[in-house]
Amino acid sequence: MALATGAHVSFSRVSKRYAGAAHGVLALEDVSFDVRRGEVFGIIGRSGAGKSTLLRTINALELPSSGAVKVNGTDVGALGEDALVALRRRIGMIFQHFNLLSAKTVRENVALPLRVAGVPPQRIGERVDALLALVGLADKADVYPARLSGGQKQRVGIARALVHEPEILLCDEATSALDPETTQSILALLREVSAAMGLTVVLITHDMAVIREICDRVLVLDQGRAVELGEVWRVFGKPQAEATRALLRPLLHGLPADLCAQLVDELGAAPGRAVLSLQFAGAERAQGVSLQELALLGPEATLIHGGLDRIRGHAQGELLVSLPAHEVPRVRGLFKDGDGADLIKVIGYVPASA
Ligand SMILES: Nc1ncnc2c1ncn2[C@@H]1O[C@H](COP(=O)(O)OP(=O)(O)OP(=O)(O)O)[C@@H](O)[C@H]1O
Ligand SMILES: [Mg+2]
Repeated sequence: MALATGAHVSFSRVSKRYAGAAHGVLALEDVSFDVRRGEVFGIIGRSGAGKSTLLRTINALELPSSGAVKVNGTDVGALGEDALVALRRRIGMIFQHFNLLSAKTVRENVALPLRVAGVPPQRIGERVDALLALVGLADKADVYPARLSGGQKQRVGIARALVHEPEILLCDEATSALDPETTQSILALLREVSAAMGLTVVLITHDMAVIREICDRVLVLDQGRAVELGEVWRVFGKPQAEATRALLRPLLHGLPADLCAQLVDELGAAPGRAVLSLQFAGAERAQGVSLQELALLGPEATLIHGGLDRIRGHAQGELLVSLPAHEVPRVRGLFKDGDGADLIKVIGYVPASA
C-alpha cells in the first residue's frame, strides 16, 4: 500500500502526449517514481524536458494520456469535480511570476482563496495574520504588490499557497526571478515551513545550487523520460546519465584557463609535472579528506585548484594537484572509492620549460 511505503505521490507509467503537429508532442514517456511523505523533492532537466507537465499532473491540471498519478493512494485522474476541488486545496502551488492580484493588498491576496472557499471572515483574519507573520510580512499586510520586492512578492505567494494548510507544495521555478541572496532567504523559508507543517515539497528549478541547498532527492528528466533518480549527494557526486552530467557541468570545478593553456597530453622523455584530478563523490570520505592522506602525494605535490562542498553531510568535490611526472606510478591507487576505483586521474602534463 502506498501509505505503508511512505509514498505520498506515486507516478506509475505516466505518459503525456499533447495534441498538435502530426503525432503531437510526447512530453512525458513512461515515467514511474514515488515522492516520499515529508521530503523536499527536486526535478531537473533541460528546457522542454517535461518538468512543468509532470508537476501539473500532481494536482490534475494536466491529465496523463496513460498511466496514473496517485496522491495518498488515490488516482487523481479519476476524481469527480468536488473531490478535485478538495484535492487542489490540499496542494499549494507557487510560481516564478508570483501571480499576485495587483489591485488587492497583500492581506487580500492571501485571503482570497479562503474567501472563495466560504471561510467565515473572523477565521480568515486570524489565518491570514498568522501566515503573514510566518513569512515575515506582518508589517506589509496593507501594502499593494507593486510596492514589494521580488522576494517579498514570493513570500506573499508562499503565504497564499499555504492558506488551506496543504500537505503538498508544488514550486515551479519559484526562485528564478530572484537574486541569489533573496533566493537563499526564500529557500530558508520553504525549508522552515516544510519542516514546521510536515509538508511534502516538489520543486522544479534550473538552479543546481537550489537543488543542492534544499532537496533530499532529485529526479532528472530528459526528453520526457526519467533518466536518473536518487539522493542529491549521490546524484551530484557521481552522476550516471549524460543529461545529468550536462546539467551539472557548471557546478564542477573547471580547469583554470591559464593552466589549460599549458597542458599537453604527454611529455615524452622531457621532464615536467603531471596534473592530477582527485574526485571525491562523498560516499567514503563523508567527513572530508584528511591532510595525512593528502600528504601521501609527497612533499613535491602542489594543490593548485578545486575545493570540497558539503552536501547533506557528505564532503565532495574535486582537487587538482600537480607533482613531478615520474611520481605518477607511485601515487596511482593511493585514493580509492568504495568500489575500489582509482580516484586519481591524470588530466595532462606541464613541460618543465613551461
Ligand atoms: N499545453 C501544451 N500544448 C502542447 N504542447 C505542450 C504544452 N505544454 C507543454 N508542451 C510541450 O511539452 C514539452 C514539455 O513541456 P514542459 O513545459 O513540461 O517542459 P519544461 O521541462 O517545464 O520546460 P522549461 O524548463 O522550459 O519550463 C515541450 O516540448 C512543450 O513544448
Ligand atoms: Mg517548465
